[in-house]
Amino acid sequence: MKISSGRVLVTGASRGIGRAVVAQLVARGARVAAVGRDEEALMQVARTSSRQVTAVVGDLARESERELLVGHAAEALGGLDGLIHCAGVVKYEPVGTLTPQALEAMWRVNQLAPTLLSQEAARIMVEQGHGGSIVTVSSTLSTRPAPSTVGYAGTKAALEATTRGLAKELSARAIRVNAVAPGVVDTDMVRQPRVAPGTRAPEGAERERLVAEQLEALAYLHPLGRLGTAEEVAELIVQVLDAEWMTGSVVTLDGGLSL
Ligand SMILES: NC(=O)c1ccc[n+]([C@@H]2O[C@H](COP(=O)([O-])OP(=O)(O)OC[C@H]3O[C@@H](n4cnc5c(N)ncnc54)[C@H](OP(=O)(O)O)[C@@H]3O)[C@@H](O)[C@H]2O)c1
Repeated sequence: MKISSGRVLVTGASRGIGRAVVAQLVARGARVAAVGRDEEALMQVARTSSRQVTAVVGDLARESERELLVGHAAEALGGLDGLIHCAGVVKYEPVGTLTPQALEAMWRVNQLAPTLLSQEAARIMVEQGHGGSIVTVSSTLSTRPAPSTVGYAGTKAALEATTRGLAKELSARAIRVNAVAPGVVDTDMVRQPRVAPGTRAPEGAERERLVAEQLEALAYLHPLGRLGTAEEVAELIVQVLDAEWMTGSVVTLDGGLSL
């Protein structure tokens, strides 16, 4: 049986890439625990899935909520075959104004949470005795940081190292661990106006215009001339989830951005 038609926990399932991953898994017949903070958005994801999706509301940045999530999900699904960590936080700040609070907020969700969720998921998979698969979502910024991404790039580089470390340790238990590293993907994450430190972001039509300009400039950086879509990234994540001879890999999907 392919993992993508088994029992899979997906974080970041309320929006963007995670939500697109849930749709792909549902189409393959999986049962999915969809994790996020936005209950209404998760319920909407669950409503469109003919009872295959269970919404699991929780804040990955809070220890008290995070430590219960995997157990709840496995209970709701009757076990766990796969974990896909899509949740992520970015705070664009030049190094001069980067605060410890911003660094910690990114670290909690981008690095600490996937490490501890993987630990718990692996414990359950080992108990079940037939292996499993974990996919994390990194970024091309882990190796090629852009201005104002010092903190975020650091969390993603650490996540890649963690992914490789987990792959090495868990291979003896037939648990594979891989990462997908996208270039810029058109989701809410990049639809934030970027303004100089100390400057207020504009509102309304002016905000829309600024975001559109920024997206166009970002698209231009990709040799293939456009941003990625959540669906394209989700498709690769699901392929990696199922790839039976792959572990410890970081697979790039970036329209040529890294060239
Ligand atoms: N978009 C890009 O250009 C891009 C490029 C490279 C890598 N990535 C990575 O791809 C992944 C998905 O990004 P995206 O573009 O889909 O972002 P997005 O649209 O902003 O979605 C982020 C997701 O993370 C969840 N999340 C954030 N903080 C959370 C918390 N404290 N607890 C629980 N869930 C939390 C959000 O859920 P709630 O709001 O419901 O909590 C949401 O579902 C991230 O890891 C990101 O770093 C994105």
